[in-house]
Amino acid sequence: PRRVFSGVQPTGNLHLGNYLGAVKRFVQMQEEWDCEKLYCMVDLHALTINPDPAELTRATRELAAAFIACGLDPAKSMLFNQSRVSAHAELAWVFNCVARVGWVNRMTQFKEKAGKNREAASVGLYAYPVLMAADILAYRATHVPVGEDQKQHLELTRDIAIKFNNDYGRPNHFPEVEPLIEGAATRVMSLRDGSKKMSKSDASDMSRINLTDDADAIAQKIRKARTDPEPLPESIEGLAERPEAKNLVGIYAALADLTPAGVLAEWGGKPFSEFKPALADLSVAMLAPIAGRMRELLADIPEIDAVLEKGAERAAAIAAPVMAETYEAVGLIGRR
Ligand code: TYM
Repeated sequence: PRRVFSGVQPTGNLHLGNYLGAVKRFVQMQEEWDCEKLYCMVDLHALTINPDPAELTRATRELAAAFIACGLDPAKSMLFNQSRVSAHAELAWVFNCVARVGWVNRMTQFKEKAGKNREAASVGLYAYPVLMAADILAYRATHVPVGEDQKQHLELTRDIAIKFNNDYGRPNHFPEVEPLIEGAATRVMSLRDGSKKMSKSDASDMSRINLTDDADAIAQKIRKARTDPEPLPESIEGLAERPEAKNLVGIYAALADLTPAGVLAEWGGKPFSEFKPALADLSVAMLAPIAGRMRELLADIPEIDAVLEKGAERAAAIAAPVMAETYEAVGLIGRR
């Protein structure tokens, strides 16, 4: 049976890349996929970079509010924070003993995040992708909607599942996970540099559109977005060597539920001086209501906490038999 899982880190401002690459897809799948769907605020993952405790708590609730404001319905999708369901941490330990150091050493995100001084990175940051495998497989999830940057981590998840099944002689214990990396915005780039991905950690706030930006900020960031001087091409082949143009066309397409070719059918041959204001209007129309709903939701913290608690209880009930079978498979005496 199919089951959907995805996670987002509560590390501060959610940006347009997170929205188009992930959360907007979660909302589409909520309606289109008739199966259990789990969407998790991965607070244990956020802990790998040692955030301020109060800030981590705040960001977790803010992310829950963002999920709901974007259209996730707690009655249709399970929304919960990772640390509240102990199966994630428990299965991560088992997987730490399955995954090989050589596999984890190849993870490019660790190399980027750890920077030059790798010796000073936390062990948690190193083991991050193993915890991610546990997130998914604790529910035997089969489909994982993510942006392009998570592809390598999902390949590791498959490798861990295959090795576990092999080592313990249980061919179908964990499923082989399928990444869903789909749509026109699986890799939204920085507005300042078409060769860098849009990211929460970019020093320049002008590089990204935050879900909480107001209309003026959104319009200004798009107006100042880097482009080349040529008008938009007539077909998508014309975007090949133009990363900034390609990025803005992809953003427009994802926001308007069009394909990039569809956007160029309308905008090909027109200058950025006309395209950018239209993109700004579209962005404001799509994002401003989300920010407004987030503010309303965040006025009632007990209600947000109640949503997370309810989601966690339902998620824990799915993970419990998987953990019991896993402990039994490896020889650990579990709960009776
Ligand atoms: P995180 O919190 O960095 O990002 C959340 C989601 O947003 C996507 N994303 C992007 N998509 C398009 N363009 C961008 N510029 C962009 N930046 C981010 C990410 O691909 C992701 O889908 N390790 C994960 C969280 C995680 C997870 C999981 C995901 C933990 N456990 C299990 C899936 C399944 C992460 O750091 O995402």
